[in-house]
Amino acid sequence: MTASATTQPGAPTLADIRRFAFRQGPGKGHLGEQHLVDDRAATTSALPPGWARSATGVPLPLGTHELLSGTPYLEPVGPAPRDRLGHLLTTAFGLQRREPSHRYADHRSVASGRAKFPVHAFLAQGPAVRYLDVYRHALVDVTPPGGVPAVTGDGTSVLLAARYSDLPAAYGRMRYAVTEVELGVNLRSLCVAADLFGVEARLALDGGSTAEAETVVRSAGPGTWSAPLAVRLGGLGPVGPSTALPGPAGNGPDSRDSLLESDDPSVRDMAAVSARRHGLSTGPQPPARGLPEGGPAGGTDWAQVLWNRTAGRMPDQLYGFALRPAEVSADCLADLLAWADRPPPDRLLAEVAGRVRLTVALQRVGGLPTGVHRVEGRELTPGLVRPRIMAALQPGFAQQPSPNTDSGMRHAAMVWVHSVDVDALLDDFGPSALGLLQLCLGWSVHGLCLAAAAHGLVARPARSFVEYHVQPLLGLRREETPVFMTVCGTSRFTEPMLDLRT
Ligand SMILES: Cc1cc2nc3c(=O)[nH]c(=O)nc-3n(C[C@H](O)[C@H](O)[C@H](O)COP(=O)(O)O)c2cc1C
Repeated sequence: MTASATTQPGAPTLADIRRFAFRQGPGKGHLGEQHLVDDRAATTSALPPGWARSATGVPLPLGTHELLSGTPYLEPVGPAPRDRLGHLLTTAFGLQRREPSHRYADHRSVASGRAKFPVHAFLAQGPAVRYLDVYRHALVDVTPPGGVPAVTGDGTSVLLAARYSDLPAAYGRMRYAVTEVELGVNLRSLCVAADLFGVEARLALDGGSTAEAETVVRSAGPGTWSAPLAVRLGGLGPVGPSTALPGPAGNGPDSRDSLLESDDPSVRDMAAVSARRHGLSTGPQPPARGLPEGGPAGGTDWAQVLWNRTAGRMPDQLYGFALRPAEVSADCLADLLAWADRPPPDRLLAEVAGRVRLTVALQRVGGLPTGVHRVEGRELTPGLVRPRIMAALQPGFAQQPSPNTDSGMRHAAMVWVHSVDVDALLDDFGPSALGLLQLCLGWSVHGLCLAAAAHGLVARPARSFVEYHVQPLLGLRREETPVFMTVCGTSRFTEPMLDLRT
């Protein structure tokens, strides 16, 4: 596949995309792009699309987390269960817990900005399209009045698309980076689940597949969506048949429906930039492997890892996350490196990922010097020794300690920072590169989050930080912009959680 773009009339040019990247990246502070978020303002989070609220569909199987609890970490699930696809989808997207006093109560095995889960999943099998509704624990029939467009072939595709109105409007253009990174997070979650259930997954990034997937997603009702991702799953039969689903159909109008199509210019911009991924040409689709190659297995099981995946928290009603100082082992570090080392599927994505530098600041990890280390594959090259690196990084994190907020940065064991020369990337790969970059980030970050969970650590992904503060502390060149940060450490607070898993 190449990054050659078929340009739609009016599509953002390379220069537009540079400006856009600056406005929702390093320029956001100067340009006032990020506003204070009022959590009482409604969003469309967890609202199924209008035509995906029907009374019929296919219930998902029960017992997924029991299957996973019998499966050691990094090993695949034993003999294929009945309804392998249902268990696979539940593993990837559907295992929920509620933290009763958390400001954002419901959590899944994937991280999501403010736990709003803007990425939605559709299952397309030829002419049948169903929407994965994790609250109804079902694949709900998508039933637009004119019928749903069929996906070519009679195989199985999972379509992932992000909806901007699910995130607070105050995020402005920042919603682009968050949703596109979350697509990468969800893509990896799907590929990990496919690996666990022995199913071959292939990412179809070409413009034809993206356009076809977009027609399907749009048929589900009003909403402004990112360009979708289409993942083909091999060797699976059709789910179904559809039956009446238990519980009330949610097919009435909802008070939040009016938010689904906003005339906010930042939404228009984001959708247009995301749509640049439509221009990609066809290329080979190698199997998409989510698990690291040959990591150290055992120690825990998959049910526990997915349950423990957390960005950390604060006590009742407070913002941010609190960490405490604690030693972290060299094995844990090696495991995170193994997950980070697995490139994203698709040659073009892997090439973009090859441009991204990963740097990690360490403190109390495996006897290594406190300071900055450069990641090269699974190895670290020591850089600046800085005994107070975490405290120095702390003012660069968007959330600062205050009477109602904590940021655990100063006690973090590892701060992983992805950085890239955004200008050179756009020069070399063209306008689709910004979106491809976000997918690569999400892919890598989800790996770090799962590996951290396997070792009892919190991993907080963060897109909101002060790039110009972080850059010199990590010894990055001036052209090289930090584009994502993942803060790992030991949580100071925990609380009993409600188990919503099935
Ligand atoms: C793409 C992405 C961007 C995020 N950005 C930030 C951020 O800038 N600051 C922050 O404190 N948390 C950030 N988070 C973490 C979420 O707030 C966190 O995942 C959410 O509160 C849900 O909590 P949980 O991950 O423990 O389930 C981000 C998460 C994702 C996936």
